[in-house]
Amino acid sequence: MSTKNIFPIELFQDNETPFYYYNLDLLRQTINHLKHSIEKNPEYIVHYAIKANANPVLLKIIAQAGLGADCVSGGEILAAIQAGISPAKIVYAGVGKTDKEINIGLDNDIFCFNVESIPELEVINQLALRKDVIARVALRINPEVEAHTHSHITTGKAENKFGISLSDLDRVFAIMHDMTNVSFVGLHFHIGSQILDMNDFEALCHRVNSILSHLYSQGVAIQYINVGGGLGIDYESPIEHPIPDFDKYFNTFRKHIQLQRGQTLHFELGRAIVAQCGTLISRVIFVKEGESKKFVIIDAGMTDLIRPALYDAHHHIANITSYSAEQEVYDIVGPICESSDVFGRDIKLPVTSRGDVIAIFSAGAYGESMASQYNCRPITHSIFSE
Ligand code: LLP
Repeated sequence: MSTKNIFPIELFQDNETPFYYYNLDLLRQTINHLKHSIEKNPEYIVHYAIKANANPVLLKIIAQAGLGADCVSGGEILAAIQAGISPAKIVYAGVGKTDKEINIGLDNDIFCFNVESIPELEVINQLALRKDVIARVALRINPEVEAHTHSHITTGKAENKFGISLSDLDRVFAIMHDMTNVSFVGLHFHIGSQILDMNDFEALCHRVNSILSHLYSQGVAIQYINVGGGLGIDYESPIEHPIPDFDKYFNTFRKHIQLQRGQTLHFELGRAIVAQCGTLISRVIFVKEGESKKFVIIDAGMTDLIRPALYDAHHHIANITSYSAEQEVYDIVGPICESSDVFGRDIKLPVTSRGDVIAIFSAGAYGESMASQYNCRPITHSIFSE
């Protein structure tokens, strides 16, 4: 399909750029695929990772589809509840939960805290005692499984700050034994993000199985097993592959994880649900001839989408208004006063001129949610298609 057919012409005629364009139909289709993939497994429960995109319009659709929420701050818990997600489907992770945030979780009786350290467990116990409630807790274990992804978004290695180390596990159980106001429900893991090699998830399954066997041998009962998120998407060919291969992903767990009767298996997918439904739409301000390069300078910057600057991330870029048959090679850059404000280097586009519209694909995840106001820029607005 040509990129020209994807976007209605009124879209960029009527709206000031830059903006995020969300294709809500694609979001619904993606969620339908996901739900279809797990419909035969009522014990599989998906919590959408709010950090990927907390736009209320998207959250409402996700809530209406019945997904739960994976939150990493008090603000995300409130955003999830505001969108209509039941607190009974909310899990809360994060290495630095403040007292205020823990109280938000307790006051709303969320399903569970994914606890990342002994000091955190102690504070949750104290705060729950003060309120005379019992907090359900899962231990986030650092599984020491390597995910083959960018080093900034791998989380399950021994050197990362996340989770409780395997060697501390027995000690944590001993400490928890004497706590009056926490109730242990299970284990939480997360190995990283944008993972496309199912062998990484298989390795996680094997690690989870061996930790479970160790705990069963100690007489520990486990109801809840949360394997985190991380399923990647196709940034190279988003038009051809708008929906991730959920079957392949869930089949990996079906095949390799050993669940006992009554246990539930939880997933925290973010990117896979929302990345492809969002496109950053921007207009060319100038085309500038450099010494050895041509620059297309657009009105979107790293303040709107920081992934290329922060992780060298690749996003497919297209000129959606030029009909030129001739192509040129450009660096696509933003207006921010930072050399890293580059969306793509040596990108082939049809001959591009001032006023053309540039689409940056796969921007629905970690785009708007990571936006900033650096350079006193306003937060980009959003337009939705049904
Ligand atoms: N669960 C936990 C505990 C997480 O830390 C994350 C992501 C997720 C679930 C959701 O992962 P996903 O399914 O979206 O891969 N800003 C980076 C990604 C950071 C991911 C942080 N944690 C990026 O733009 O690539």
